[in-house]
Amino acid sequence: MKNIIITGCNGQLGRALGRVLADTQYRLINTDVAELDITKIDAVMELARKTEPYAIINCAAQTNVNGCETGRDTAFLINAIGPRNLSIAARETGAKLFQISTDYVFSGRDGRRHYRESDKTAPESVYGETKLAGENFVREFAGRYFILRTAWLYGEGKNFVRTMLGLAEKNDRVQVVGDQYGTPTYSMELARAIAYLLPTENYGTFHATCEGECSWAEFAREIFRLAGKSTIVEEISAEAYEKKFPGQAPRPAYSVLDNYMLDMTTDFRFTAWEAAIAEYVRSGC
Ligand SMILES: NC(=O)c1ccc[n+]([C@@H]2O[C@H](COP(=O)([O-])OP(=O)(O)OC[C@H]3O[C@@H](n4cnc5c(N)ncnc54)[C@H](OP(=O)(O)O)[C@@H]3O)[C@@H](O)[C@H]2O)c1
Repeated sequence: MKNIIITGCNGQLGRALGRVLADTQYRLINTDVAELDITKIDAVMELARKTEPYAIINCAAQTNVNGCETGRDTAFLINAIGPRNLSIAARETGAKLFQISTDYVFSGRDGRRHYRESDKTAPESVYGETKLAGENFVREFAGRYFILRTAWLYGEGKNFVRTMLGLAEKNDRVQVVGDQYGTPTYSMELARAIAYLLPTENYGTFHATCEGECSWAEFAREIFRLAGKSTIVEEISAEAYEKKFPGQAPRPAYSVLDNYMLDMTTDFRFTAWEAAIAEYVRSGC
């Protein structure tokens, strides 16, 4: 069996991978911060040398976008130094490395154009900056890597869908940002894409989101519709939201990703975001 080190295994993507890769040719070495702190190079090297992994899939990150603004160094350690360490270990042991990145590496100020992998990055948040630094370390240090940029991820864990359903328990109406657009992506869909790429030599940078686009407010309406809630969604601008809840990190206004490289080089196709959220709500969230 081929060993695969999963980091951040308790997170949304880590859990989805545990399900998608169960009962396959791979033996999963599941680690979260208690078992392997990816910011510690010695610990990373030791585990890699001991297990000689076929692949390392980095699901660990500091994903608290607002928290990154006030904890820049911690964000850099986890989102940039972590992948750097894993890249060095992957190179030494010959492992394939999967690094997950984000649509927040783009400014979202380029009109309604869907971003391709080769488009110029220009992060505006600390989260986006540190994730981009992580990508660049992977390019510098890992020999055989897949960088997958995803967006608006939900699955088993804290996410927008669960927040909305929680709010609907106590409120008849909720205010949701209506002028930021992206693509909600189910962690199971992303895990399926990783499982598809895993045995291949199809290395590089990939956009990896569900198909289609919506605003946060449109996403909330669809969640309530699928969950049979009558909660009313009132649209609010990002600017007004920031006035109401100060301390928000800048978020891209329009960061829809085009899965161009996956489309060009593979048969893998993500499902539409509407079908994916229906699957998630059906499964009980
Ligand atoms: N969530 C999104 O909307 C979104 C959007 C675009 C891209 N992404 C990217 O997709 C990937 C997966 O995201 P996710 O939503 O599954 O993340 P998540 O649910 O926040 O899980 C991340 C996991 O990493 C762990 N972790 C934190 N610091 C660590 C360290 N130093 N060493 C080892 N583990 C550590 C976390 O533990 P604690 O919980 O104890 O900190 C958590 O279990 C990340 O690379 C993220 O940047 C996410």
